[in-house]
Amino acid sequence: MADSYSLVLWGIYASSVVVYATLQFLKAPFGKFQDARFGPVLPGRLGWCLFESVSLFACPASYFLAAPPQFRTATQLVVLSLWVVHYFHRSFVYVLRAPSIAPTGVLTVVTAIVYNLANGYVNGIAIARFGAGSDSEPLPLSFYTGLALFLLGMGINIHSDSILFALRRKKSSTGQRYHIPRGGLFELVSCANYSGEILEWFGWALLNGLSGGPLSFLAFTLANLVPRAVSQHQWYHRTFGSAYPKSRKAVFPFLY
Ligand SMILES: NC(=O)c1ccc[n+]([C@@H]2O[C@H](COP(=O)([O-])OP(=O)(O)OC[C@H]3O[C@@H](n4cnc5c(N)ncnc54)[C@H](OP(=O)(O)O)[C@@H]3O)[C@@H](O)[C@H]2O)c1
Repeated sequence: MADSYSLVLWGIYASSVVVYATLQFLKAPFGKFQDARFGPVLPGRLGWCLFESVSLFACPASYFLAAPPQFRTATQLVVLSLWVVHYFHRSFVYVLRAPSIAPTGVLTVVTAIVYNLANGYVNGIAIARFGAGSDSEPLPLSFYTGLALFLLGMGINIHSDSILFALRRKKSSTGQRYHIPRGGLFELVSCANYSGEILEWFGWALLNGLSGGPLSFLAFTLANLVPRAVSQHQWYHRTFGSAYPKSRKAVFPFLY
């Protein structure tokens, strides 16, 4: 019989397919696409902090419950600390640095909490079960490659979000809320913050030996962010017309 890890894992894969299919004809109702038809909203900072901080606690709790002290390794704890750094940043630093965050629908917050609980659970178990093995064995090259990609992706994500924050602070004589992002990876793609995020979780999957939990997170991130990047890319073209750089792709430089 399938254990709870496998069930939650396949639930995440199934929801990735549902999310990808749904986002082909519907835009997730937050930020540029906030939509009053999706019911009541929470202040943006509160919403983000609520659903992202669930991940900050769910993964470590799941790891420590699944790995008794005698089975914990230093490598697993380093891997876990990458998760904690990412989600501490996303739950608190990002939220406080953002000049403003558009209101977030209660529905978005609730579904994100459910997903983040499941995702934190499978990733904590994955670190405990698969980890990078015993501390006495040399780590594979894929671990170091994954670590480098994770850090690079995180750097691109934070740098790109900083460019957007600077735009959000910009005063416009026309009262325009959104502007064309420039600089960094935005020269190549419309959603450089999403490109960084995808690279980060690709690196995470690699450094975790492409085990189930981390791979399902990569699948969900792609299912969620690629359609949203396409929607944002089209929105930029509609909003700024010929002023918008034509050679820019949506999320994968030179490709898509
Ligand atoms: N792993 C995942 O599945 C996942 C899912 C969602 C988000 N994320 C991450 O969470 C972060 C935020 O995501 P998001 O979807 O909210 O990103 P976003 O739509 O790009 O917005 C990021 C911030 O920049 C502002 N902004 C965006 N475009 C702007 C423009 N053209 N001019 C001025 N300000 C602009 C937004 O303001 P408004 O709030 O007013 O629009 C918001 O404060 C990103 O780093 C993303 O990678 C990850």
